[in-house]
Amino acid sequence: MDRGRPGDDYELVFDDGVDFVRSMVMADTVPEGETAGDELAEARDAKATLQRELQDERKTLPVFKLKDDLLKAIDKYQVLIIVGETGSGKTTQIPQYLHQAGYTAKGKVACTQPRRVAAMSVAVRVAQEMGVKLGHKVGYSIRFEDCTSEKTVIKYMTDGMLLREFLGEPDLASYSVIVVDEAHERTLSTDILFGLVKDIARFRPDLKLLISSATLNADKFSDFFDAAPIFRIPGRRYQVDIHYTRAPEADYIDAAVVTVLQLHVTQPAGGDILLFLTGQEEIETVEEILRQRLRGLGAKVAELLICPIYANLPTELQAKIFEPAPAGARKVVLATNIAETSLTIDGIKYVVDPGFCKVRSYNQRTGMESLLVAPVSKASADQRAGRSGRTGPGKCFRLYTEYNFRKDLDDDMVPEIQRSNLASVVLALKTLGINDLVSFDFMDPPAAESVIRALEELFALGALNSRGELTKTGRRMAEFPLDPMLSKAIVASEMYGCSEEVITIASMLSAGNAVFYRPKDKQVHADAARRGFHADNVGDHIALLNVYNAWKESGYSPQWCRENFVQQRTMRRARDVRDQLESLLERVEIAPCSSAGDHDAVRKAITAGYFRHAARLQRDGSSYRSVKGRQTVFIHPSSGTAQALPPWVVYHDLVLTTKEYMRQVTELKPEWLVEIAPHYYERKDVEQPHPKAEEHTTRPAAPPSR
Ligand code: CDP
Ligand code: MG
Repeated sequence: MDRGRPGDDYELVFDDGVDFVRSMVMADTVPEGETAGDELAEARDAKATLQRELQDERKTLPVFKLKDDLLKAIDKYQVLIIVGETGSGKTTQIPQYLHQAGYTAKGKVACTQPRRVAAMSVAVRVAQEMGVKLGHKVGYSIRFEDCTSEKTVIKYMTDGMLLREFLGEPDLASYSVIVVDEAHERTLSTDILFGLVKDIARFRPDLKLLISSATLNADKFSDFFDAAPIFRIPGRRYQVDIHYTRAPEADYIDAAVVTVLQLHVTQPAGGDILLFLTGQEEIETVEEILRQRLRGLGAKVAELLICPIYANLPTELQAKIFEPAPAGARKVVLATNIAETSLTIDGIKYVVDPGFCKVRSYNQRTGMESLLVAPVSKASADQRAGRSGRTGPGKCFRLYTEYNFRKDLDDDMVPEIQRSNLASVVLALKTLGINDLVSFDFMDPPAAESVIRALEELFALGALNSRGELTKTGRRMAEFPLDPMLSKAIVASEMYGCSEEVITIASMLSAGNAVFYRPKDKQVHADAARRGFHADNVGDHIALLNVYNAWKESGYSPQWCRENFVQQRTMRRARDVRDQLESLLERVEIAPCSSAGDHDAVRKAITAGYFRHAARLQRDGSSYRSVKGRQTVFIHPSSGTAQALPPWVVYHDLVLTTKEYMRQVTELKPEWLVEIAPHYYERKDVEQPHPKAEEHTTRPAAPPSR
């Protein structure tokens, strides 16, 4: 999309006469608002009557009126497609109806969600509605976090987790109903689930299958499931006025902030704002700018509660977005795509849509996967707008022009399966004994090229042999709920005698990107603390290991975290993940072993998983080029190696912002590539073309055992 010129001081003008001028927000002529006071206490009192209110609320949901018809249809058909507007009660109510109707006496009800946050928050809500403790009758299961017990009969889970359950229970015998929810999202795992559940439904006539989606275009699902009937829940959606900017916005963050503040000060009290952003970082930035500007506006404006929601947000804070704003105050929810259809937040009257989201993209030519910010589809933009018209007429402010909308946005998002690295699903399918991927029942098949790439990658990792059959290494790798490259690093750590170190690093990498923080007033201290972990100067993986070990030595102390500017939350999560990886090690019979400070061993194990992510410093002295893909990449400024710029590196992942950045970067010796991955790299790949830097490669050692 054309974003105009950056840096201009522009007027933010929407069509239909809704003109927001930036200076208005900065000026102090704002209407006086009432402040929230004792209303807060009242809201707390209301908690006492929560249960009764919850039950009343349930009855107002569109799905409630159709409860009997729905149960009849489920009884009659094995597979049913359910379509209903977001907020109609599909996710929270249908599993409860199934429970009441007795389905859970025969087995659990699974309800899959593409997003972790949705799985958790919906489970919390349903446990509340049923008046039961979370994790008992109602629970959730997401990667590295299982909040279920033997009592659990309604299980919300990510689609990826259900996929993993197939590995242990190929017929899903312990389930009576599978609800594949948010089917329209077409995530990679959901698409694979479609094929798998369709298959087991054939030989398990007792199993009920519900495919639930928020889009009206359900025929595709019906066709795929052998003309399964479609059950439609009529929506209740009010008129939504859509406003576009007259000119493209140069800086959508700034435009979003201005729009939110304008809405807050100019629109009558009542009616919350929902702003769509692309990720945690962006949400945190906007939160900070909003707070600053609100402070600038002083007490003359009504209170604006800022509620962020993204995957890594602590559960306590997630709940905050559902709490109504106290009287006189307004709430602005800063959300990722999650609020598009997965979560319904009541009381939203205004939606601000910059028109972007973060997507995974896969370059088939180079075999590289990256996260990038891309324009949303028309379907997404319409879903976003719809969020404002749930409880009354709403308004949606699109921070792009109508021309952009019509001409530049695709109708629909390309399903993830057609833009992802498939190594992980191919490995899972192979483990399930599905060898012939060409005849797997895909709703939209992936490009043959990506399947071949995945097979090649798994072969290079030693997970498959030359006939494409699963090896012992592959079987072991599949036990870990991690990317195949990371699983391979763990399996390889046995050979290098450093399984303790590698699972620590794997846990830190899986616990989230936010390990360090950097408060504005203590940046110098924070940076110094951070440098301390990089003392060995060999890269971010070893630094992560150092952080974890130092924290462990401190007795897992919160105080230590504060002193070292390390996020305690991330560390606690890493510890949980590590415990689980430790028991998985035992399961694949890898003995715990430590290289006792030999970082080369650890780096070699990492390289055994990530050799495809090897890059070499180019002659310009700042950019890198991936050894095989020949793509130009850069070290992310947050990396400890960003100053040192080692000649050869291996990286964890790529993120595309202004440039293609490598995150979590470790220095590598080029001869390791030939030694560790001899069927991927040849001597000529790592030989030095400029004589100045000549370095003789050692004879390749024996390949790692498989
Ligand atoms: O799945 P669908 O979009 O059809 O609706 P739902 O997620 O079942 O939501 C129904 C209602 O439950 C929403 O209108 C919210 O009021 C409420 N809800 C909530 O308060 N907290 C949640 N975590 C989820 C839903
Ligand atoms: Mg839902």
